[in-house]
Amino acid sequence: MQTIQSVNEMQSHAIGLRSSGRLIGLVPTMGCLHEGHLSLIDIAKERADKVIVSIFVNPTQFGPSEDFGRYPKSLEADLEKCAERGVDIVFNPSAAEMYPQGFSTYVNEEDVGAGLCGISRPSHFRGVTTVCLKLFNITRPDLAVFGQKDAQQCAVIQKMVTDLNIPAEVIIGETKRGDDGLAISSRNRYLTNTQNEEALSLSKTLLMAQKMVHEDGVRSVDRVVAEVTHHLSIARSLRVIYVQIVDRLTMEPASREIEPGKHMVCVAAWLDQTRLIDNIAL
Ligand code: PAF
Repeated sequence: MQTIQSVNEMQSHAIGLRSSGRLIGLVPTMGCLHEGHLSLIDIAKERADKVIVSIFVNPTQFGPSEDFGRYPKSLEADLEKCAERGVDIVFNPSAAEMYPQGFSTYVNEEDVGAGLCGISRPSHFRGVTTVCLKLFNITRPDLAVFGQKDAQQCAVIQKMVTDLNIPAEVIIGETKRGDDGLAISSRNRYLTNTQNEEALSLSKTLLMAQKMVHEDGVRSVDRVVAEVTHHLSIARSLRVIYVQIVDRLTMEPASREIEPGKHMVCVAAWLDQTRLIDNIAL
């Protein structure tokens, strides 16, 4: 496995791979790799000849009061996991390499990213689209794999790829959960054991919403949102940021009726200083 830090080296290597007819699969990450990331790597391995994993904690997607400074890092362990999983190249640039002095161009998707997390994290998706477009230009992937846990991020990237005619296929890997149901996330490292227990109410409540729709035949958006909000607020230390039922592809809010297969319920909540998100198909 090769590790590359330089943008120029990565880009010329990727151009070489593509011109020799190799299919490139990219898995963009911010490191601190867990089972969720590893499952995305497995998807990329199945579909591509060469798998590139980028590890870069992207400063532009964090707001001024967010956790950029304390975002967990575990480069050595990440490299070991990548090597074990058969990754070909880890691209691990520095911030100065990605955003040299004078950098002033950003990409902004203006619709899909506007609601949900876009409201409480106003510059977040601009940072995500900017870094992803840069990663696409640097690593020239035929396909790029993202995780469904960040459903809105997936939808924003898919929209950018379509709108800007980027010649890469976006593949979405399913959310990986612990045995207890908690969606696996690098930020789970912030949680104490007690908080971990409380965080479980997110996945439990989502399952309850799915049951309401699929087993009890409930179709009312207001009723499901009200039940989910109520159940989340039983966990006293959770502060709900949003509960919303949206179209799974466009993130457009459902108005009155839930259409099974088309809609999903998305939640975000603070647990002390940790921001958690999760979603489930309805
Ligand atoms: O999901 C993430 O880890 C990040 O948002 C991504 C896609 C790697 C961009 O920095």
